[in-house]
Amino acid sequence: MTRYEELLQSLPQNPKTWLVTGVAGFIGSNLLETLLKLDQTVIGLDNFATGYQHNLDEVQSLVTAEQWARFRFIEGDIRNLDDCRKACEGVNYVLHQAALGSVPRSINDPITTNATNIDGFLNMLVAARDAKVDSFTYAASSSTYGDHPGLPKVEDVIGKPLSPYAVTKYVNELYADVFAKTYGFNTIGLRYFNVFGKRQDPDGAYAAVIPKWTAAMIQGEPVYINGDGETSRDFCYIDNTVQANLLAATAQSADARNQVYNVAVGDRTTLNELLGVIKEKLEANSLMVKSLVQYQNARLGDVQHSQASIGKIKSRLGYDPFFKAAEGLEESIKWYLSKKNVNGTKK
Ligand SMILES: NC(=O)c1ccc[n+]([C@@H]2O[C@H](COP(=O)([O-])OP(=O)(O)OC[C@H]3O[C@@H](n4cnc5c(N)ncnc54)[C@H](O)[C@@H]3O)[C@@H](O)[C@H]2O)c1
Repeated sequence: MTRYEELLQSLPQNPKTWLVTGVAGFIGSNLLETLLKLDQTVIGLDNFATGYQHNLDEVQSLVTAEQWARFRFIEGDIRNLDDCRKACEGVNYVLHQAALGSVPRSINDPITTNATNIDGFLNMLVAARDAKVDSFTYAASSSTYGDHPGLPKVEDVIGKPLSPYAVTKYVNELYADVFAKTYGFNTIGLRYFNVFGKRQDPDGAYAAVIPKWTAAMIQGEPVYINGDGETSRDFCYIDNTVQANLLAATAQSADARNQVYNVAVGDRTTLNELLGVIKEKLEANSLMVKSLVQYQNARLGDVQHSQASIGKIKSRLGYDPFFKAAEGLEESIKWYLSKKNVNGTKK
């Protein structure tokens, strides 16, 4: 039995109180769903900057009334220390996801990204430290590898950031490390590599590539590829990411805590390959894809290739990514198709 399978069995017998910030977003709402299904108590904090009430409504529809009653939502802003303190009261484990994602958004508006991702992060660290939570797990990012060309990416070898977003995520790691050393506070950073799956927003200028392309193909709209399509990424299905969070939050051994870990599968898929797989999966689900593919200029701030080494998270946290990219795509595409008749691709 893997450590995660053991955890899935033991948590319902020994329920805890979790705080999920960014709970109305993609990753946050998936964490919420898993935790409620495990009979945990969850506090959620979100200001709906990029998250949605319909994500929370969907989770409600997937759990029992008794499980939903264990969820308390606080509409608030991590840039406000009082909101953070309120959310941290009585919490065992913090899963801090709230941030403004997207490299292009940070290039267009570095001030708001900085305020949310750095000031907000520091507020959360202070509030969680003062509330004496057992652990503080936070969403770091593969963007921290910046301009370092080495593959696969190993946690200790990073380059210089290529965007304001990458700066903020690196500063998170620096603050978390200093809080561990200065206050003996237990933090774990999870460097996510291109997470995808159900409830990832397909709309807007800053949508991620998988939901954006899937929605475009479902609607018969053109698909735009930045660059020549040979850019590659380590696409990681949401269930693997949820697993990493639960393992990190509950890690007990000294060598597991106060570290940063890559969260990925350890594979690499080019955008051209990805496009082919999405098309194939949609067609396997009886949708004729008629979208034209258009190549455009590569985006500023994007790294060319990304692939994680996942040796550290496997050995220290017992992480075992059940879903390869293609299997995750199968699940995600079914979800996007299930939404296609409900107000476009979204509920
Ligand atoms: N999705 C990915 O591939 C990926 C990759 C690397 C890192 N991350 C990180 O993972 C985390 C979650 O990302 P996601 O993909 O779920 O994005 P998302 O935009 O769906 O979720 C972020 C949530 O945070 C909330 N939020 C933003 N600013 C806030 C504020 N000031 N106060 C309270 N809530 C606020 C948003 O409303 C949203 O619900 C982020 O920290 C992101 O930087 C994501």
